Amino acid sequence: MGNIILTGDRPTGNLHLGHYIGSLKNRLKLQNEGHYDEMYVMIADAQALTDNFDNPKKIRDYVKEVAIDYLSVGIDPNKVNIFIQSEVSELTELTFYYMNLVTVSRLQRNPTVKNEIKQKDFDASIPTGFLCYPISQSADITAFKANVIPVGDDQLPMIEQANEIVRTFNRIYGETLVECKAILPEKEIQRRLPGLDGNNKMSKSLGNCIYLCDDSEAVKTKVMSMYTDPNHIKIEDPGKVEGNMVFTYLDAFSSDDQIKKYSEFNSLEEMKNKYSIGGLGDVYIKKVLYNVLEEILTPIREKRRYYEEHPEEVLNILKNGTNKAKEKASNTLREVKKAIMIDYFN
Ligand code: TRP
Repeated sequence: MGNIILTGDRPTGNLHLGHYIGSLKNRLKLQNEGHYDEMYVMIADAQALTDNFDNPKKIRDYVKEVAIDYLSVGIDPNKVNIFIQSEVSELTELTFYYMNLVTVSRLQRNPTVKNEIKQKDFDASIPTGFLCYPISQSADITAFKANVIPVGDDQLPMIEQANEIVRTFNRIYGETLVECKAILPEKEIQRRLPGLDGNNKMSKSLGNCIYLCDDSEAVKTKVMSMYTDPNHIKIEDPGKVEGNMVFTYLDAFSSDDQIKKYSEFNSLEEMKNKYSIGGLGDVYIKKVLYNVLEEILTPIREKRRYYEEHPEEVLNILKNGTNKAKEKASNTLREVKKAIMIDYFN
């Protein structure tokens, strides 16, 4: 059996550089290498509603935005089925049957869920739908018999949950579902890109992002405001490289060829050395980073402009992808119902 790749994002905001380096780049690589039978990318609107149920307009608007983000970075609808989660009602049905296989305390122990509950102040009153979203995510994965899941490391507990459900299901009802494995980006820094302020990871809710749809001016302003070394005041002062977000981002995004192109140095190491001993200003290193990022973002922006001008094309891509996804998920649901012996009229 070949690989079936599936991944997705919650449409709660535009995609940013953290998504790009943490997941989108990996998806493009997988898409272009072609070692797979089927590849799906899901816009997880139903999951987004589990903690945004009171803001449906936001989720609806970002479904379109995230679709355009995908297409702009180069996800190719001829190779990948891009689909909308809520349109595949089979996923909700699977979720209901999987709920029997998971305890409430198991859900409460999920580190990602725990973290989010704290962030959202849900402690006293956790919405049931939110607590159960790892089960729904397990349905997303297993409905497609997906075995390869390119994600960021915050998603590992979800993969674990999915595999537990698969094992329990297969043990009780017979061999039906397939286990999966996560594919994480190679470098540590790509797995968890910190925000522009150096605090935490890049995240919409923390307002420390560079978005794939930001224009050049916005990128410049944001790069110029990045956290460096507060004690590096004069150019001659020795500067700290560690914890300096400009170098952190150069580590994540630049190649030595680009360093040669945009600076007087032959490699990032050389540039870091100069900064450490003193004699290199923050504006200098920020300009290098700005140029490196613009090399990534310019082609994305151009594609975005095309899709923004062709909304009907975007809608058609989503419709086609969703139809394919529905077909696949309904086959799995049929097998699942047969295994649970609730296939009465067949
Ligand atoms: N939880 C993921 C996120 O927050 C989105 C998601 C939903 C997902 N279903 C998925 C990712 C299935 C991978 C596989 O980004």
